[in-house]
Amino acid sequence: MPIVVEPLHPVFAAQVTGVDLRESLDQPDVTAIDEAISRFGVLVFPGQFITDEQQMAFSRRFGDLETTVKIYRKDYVPRLDPHVSDVSNLDKDSQIRRKDDRLRLNGLGNRLWHSDSSFKRVPARFSLLSARAIPSEGGETQFADMRAAWDALPERMKARLDGLICEHTQLFSRAKIAFTDWSEEERVKMAPVPQVLVRTHPGSGRKSLFLSSHAGLIRGMEEPEARVLLMDLMEHATQREFVYTHRWTVGDLVMWDNRCTMHRAREYDETQVRDMHRTTVSDGLPTVAEAA
Ligand code: OGA
Ligand code: MN
Repeated sequence: MPIVVEPLHPVFAAQVTGVDLRESLDQPDVTAIDEAISRFGVLVFPGQFITDEQQMAFSRRFGDLETTVKIYRKDYVPRLDPHVSDVSNLDKDSQIRRKDDRLRLNGLGNRLWHSDSSFKRVPARFSLLSARAIPSEGGETQFADMRAAWDALPERMKARLDGLICEHTQLFSRAKIAFTDWSEEERVKMAPVPQVLVRTHPGSGRKSLFLSSHAGLIRGMEEPEARVLLMDLMEHATQREFVYTHRWTVGDLVMWDNRCTMHRAREYDETQVRDMHRTTVSDGLPTVAEAA
């Protein structure tokens, strides 16, 4: 069966059918997916009822997987393999987390626009998220195209931004939702990391804004000025015309390129189960090294 790629949105995102991700793929299929993600930034694979093992195997065709860093409380017991990020509202016994559960509150940070692991020196290249259980409504994931956002900036702004280096940490993004319940040890681990603000996306050769709610400082700039500029850019980059909203069906697997997109989760009724499993392909080099 040939791979079929159909656009889902005027500027990016496509649906991919004619491939079974549970099986070991031939190199031509992997190449076709690689080319599709280079062009579209977000790929939706419907009807993939995949296990964690199969999802890890498919993800590894694109590079090394991140392990999930759990900086949460010491009694946190993971439900899934260390290479699978638990994006559910469940605890280790598959019970829905309480409203005041620290992990749930921290997880609300996913509702802010971000690029995965931009708070790590080597951020994420691809994320692959599969829907195992979904609520009856809400809980969509939105994506924004950072290449289209870059293209639409005035030339004067492009010239001002090119070459700037930001500092990213989860302390910045969580502070935005007043989540500040960190131990001193956690704060040390979460020290800010540098990320370039403008990247050239290797897959397409296009320039892209590298934004994330984890960004809070710009080197060489006063903090209020940096914050205001980042807020303006976030607003610009997440305008309707650059945003694709994915409404989940169980069995969907969505793969996105964190180098040229941002994403966020949307609200849902948290008395219902939302069980999503994410694998994450690491991006090889720090962005400041990649740019040099
Ligand atoms: C993620 C994420 C959003 C969502 O898995 O990285 O941000 O809709 N998920 O769950
Ligand atoms: Mn994310």
